Amino acid sequence: MPYAHITGWGMSVPEPVLTNDDLAKIVDTNDAWIRERTGIRERHIARASDFPSTLGTDAALKALSVANLRATDLDLIICTTSTPEHLFPATACLIQDQLGASKAGAFDLLAACTGFIYAVNMAAQSIRSGAIKSALVIGTETLSRFVNWEDRNTCILFGDGAGAFVLQASDQPGGVLATVMRSDGSGSNLLTLPAGGSRHPATEATIREGQHYIFMDGREVFRFATRVMASSTEEVLKLAGLTKDDISVIIPHQANSRIIDAAARGLKLPIERFVVNVDRYGNTSTASIPIATVEAVEKGRVKAGEKVVFVGFGAGLTWGALVAEWTGPLPTPRKVNVGRDRLWGRIRSILHRIERFLEGIIWGRRA
Ligand code: UT7
Repeated sequence: MPYAHITGWGMSVPEPVLTNDDLAKIVDTNDAWIRERTGIRERHIARASDFPSTLGTDAALKALSVANLRATDLDLIICTTSTPEHLFPATACLIQDQLGASKAGAFDLLAACTGFIYAVNMAAQSIRSGAIKSALVIGTETLSRFVNWEDRNTCILFGDGAGAFVLQASDQPGGVLATVMRSDGSGSNLLTLPAGGSRHPATEATIREGQHYIFMDGREVFRFATRVMASSTEEVLKLAGLTKDDISVIIPHQANSRIIDAAARGLKLPIERFVVNVDRYGNTSTASIPIATVEAVEKGRVKAGEKVVFVGFGAGLTWGALVAEWTGPLPTPRKVNVGRDRLWGRIRSILHRIERFLEGIIWGRRA
């Protein structure tokens, strides 16, 4: 049975930065409150030209460079996002087109902020089964488009950005070792975007009532998060036959530094074993774990052969944890050149459109 190795990683955040002081000019809040209660200092906010697909494509191109893999070699693209560009088509298909990944299947996976853990597991299981050889997993968000900028309970928390992993099959043991995925839909009302779906399609009333913004019962979500972060980490370690001492670093979903502190206390581990960058990005939902991973790898905190736990929670309610033996860096990463790779993706996409047009004529004549 092949193993599913994480061979590439990349991230992309929009340039504009919104600080706590900037927020204090919009809502009744202040830097000290936000830092004390959440650990957040600033977050990146999408420009009008940034979308989940464009941020996701940039992160994906970097991950493909690290893995030294061409987009045309990909078998599968899973995009996990809480802020898809449309109800359909899937944002994954938009990224597939921008990459020119002509042989890849593509779909979106919705498990809110836990999505990246679910998606890496789905990609890994597809590789482990022998069905595919390579997969791209992307977590990408423009949460700023769904935040009510008049609601100080939520608008201070979220940021925009994207992160991506490449997974590849190998006979060498390692890669994704075990995953725990859990859900509890009885808490679906605690964190939700109420309208815009088929239950409450957009109407003048839904817009007037602000039902197209993120709603959150912060205290309840906080309580739930502190409970499941430690328990799912313990559960996944047991599943993999490992102990806390085998783990070099834990990369948690970045929602609130107090939630990460509570997980560290629950696991009786020093906070230094956790990667924390919520101060600079805020909560980027599905993108937070891969963004934290890229920074950890670049700082030398994750090395080849070491075991890493990823753990997260989110709307649904969903939560989960995944343990992996880190593979990279590979001996031959390609030089990252997002501009060049993006251009090649566009060219492949245009050629594909021409091909589809010509095929339409040929099949039209035959019909
Ligand atoms: O990916 C998963 C997404 N969500 C989360 O992880 C969120 C989990 N929850 C949290 O992180 C925290 O519950 C929050 C950061 C959202 C809130 O922190 P808290 O310590 O639970 O505060 P609270 O909701 O209990 O509010 C305490 C007080 C309230 O005032 P009163 O009622 O005590 O007078 C709030 O109105 O703080 C007030 N408050 C604020 N004050 C200044 C709430 N938001 C703000 C604000 N600035 N931005």
